[in-house]
Amino acid sequence: MSNEEVIKVLIVDDIAETRENIRKLLQFEADFEIVGAARNGYEGIELAKDLEPDVILMDINMPDIDGITATETIRQEVPHSQIVILTVQADPNYMRRAMLAGARDFLTKPPSVDEMIGAIRRAGELAHEEREKTKNVYSVKPGNGSMPVGTLKDGKIISVFSPKGGVGKTTIAVNLAVALHRKETPVVLVDGNMEFGDVMVFLNKQAKNSIVDLAPRADELDQDVIEEVTMLHQESGIKVLAAPSRPEFAESVNGDQFAQVLDFLRNFYSYVIVDCSSSLTDVTLSTIDTSDLIMLLTTQEIPAIKDSRLFLDLLQPLKINRERLLFVMNKYDKRVAIKPEKVSENFKQELKVVIPFEEKVVLPAINRGVPFMLGEKSKSITRSFISLTEEIRKRLSAPDKKTAVEVPEKVSVAG
Ligand SMILES: Nc1ncnc2c1ncn2[C@@H]1O[C@H](COP(=O)(O)OP(=O)(O)O)[C@@H](O)[C@H]1O
Ligand SMILES: [Mg+2]
Repeated sequence: MSNEEVIKVLIVDDIAETRENIRKLLQFEADFEIVGAARNGYEGIELAKDLEPDVILMDINMPDIDGITATETIRQEVPHSQIVILTVQADPNYMRRAMLAGARDFLTKPPSVDEMIGAIRRAGELAHEEREKTKNVYSVKPGNGSMPVGTLKDGKIISVFSPKGGVGKTTIAVNLAVALHRKETPVVLVDGNMEFGDVMVFLNKQAKNSIVDLAPRADELDQDVIEEVTMLHQESGIKVLAAPSRPEFAESVNGDQFAQVLDFLRNFYSYVIVDCSSSLTDVTLSTIDTSDLIMLLTTQEIPAIKDSRLFLDLLQPLKINRERLLFVMNKYDKRVAIKPEKVSENFKQELKVVIPFEEKVVLPAINRGVPFMLGEKSKSITRSFISLTEEIRKRLSAPDKKTAVEVPEKVSVAG
């Protein structure tokens, strides 16, 4: 891949001293090239368009237009450029707005050298991949409705699964959808739990239609039908396809129909995220079968680990390649003796993303029906979601990557 490529960096900050300090900090990185420095938001936008940097270090508070507005414009004008925001303090409100504007990462001023270099390198790699992708892939034409017009053709299906209930599938599916959604990479979230789907509750919405309306027409779907049946979640911009409203309707959707619907959604959305049921129903099996990426969730609890083990053992008979798996630990508590590294080693399955236990953030968000990636923020859980989306974008942007099962390397806990 393009790892050895030079990372072009643009600095946007109204204070000359800050620009100079950043320059000095970065000058020893052989693969970094400072291509320019802008003194305000307007200049930042102009330079971004001219220089097409890979990474933009963006101040928030600037005299004319602020860094968030500049971020929004740059994301549209130079989509592959990745923006790292520099804030004076980690204000959750700023972070949320910056995130919605399309920023990739946040650093608190003054950042440590390692922090800054790490963030730039991650963003730089992503920029190189995005640049590659836009060379030969689709473009979404803006439509008049909330649904993207034109076809993406190869949107990716990501299923969030765990054989154990209560490990956080719905929590993660909902917040991942919000975190991945961008204008240029739209997301649809599908409730894959036919009996007790609760995605709509997590979003505090009531669905008028559901998968039940699509299943009988799975052979003859068109864009209008999809538009009618899915619901826009205004606050985040994602679209949502609800589960049947009552458990007894579950039987009216079979696995083939469900997979056909998912496949059709690929045409319009970059990411189709499915919140699966824990039981291996016909619908769950079809979902897993048709997924580009299967997120297998576990926690530090023995029953969850045991069930994950049983599921991993099932992969071979089900003919599911481990390469499609993304093993994630949720509710991580460092006080618990069962360490992610050990689980990973034991399962011979790389465990790259660990999401911390953050009851104070997660519970109120669920009860209010506002995904925490939109609202209340805790630095560590938010950062873990940024790592998660980065990992997913990386995994899914390499179409014929033939990664063998890797020996677990470093497990990183964001935060
Ligand atoms: N990272 C986390 N930290 C704290 N609590 C969490 C976390 N993830 C999930 N939870 C809690 O776990 C419970 C189950 O989550 P849910 O998403 O409904 O799981 P599932 O869909 O797998 O059944 C919820 O009460 C939620 O608040
Ligand atoms: Mg659930």
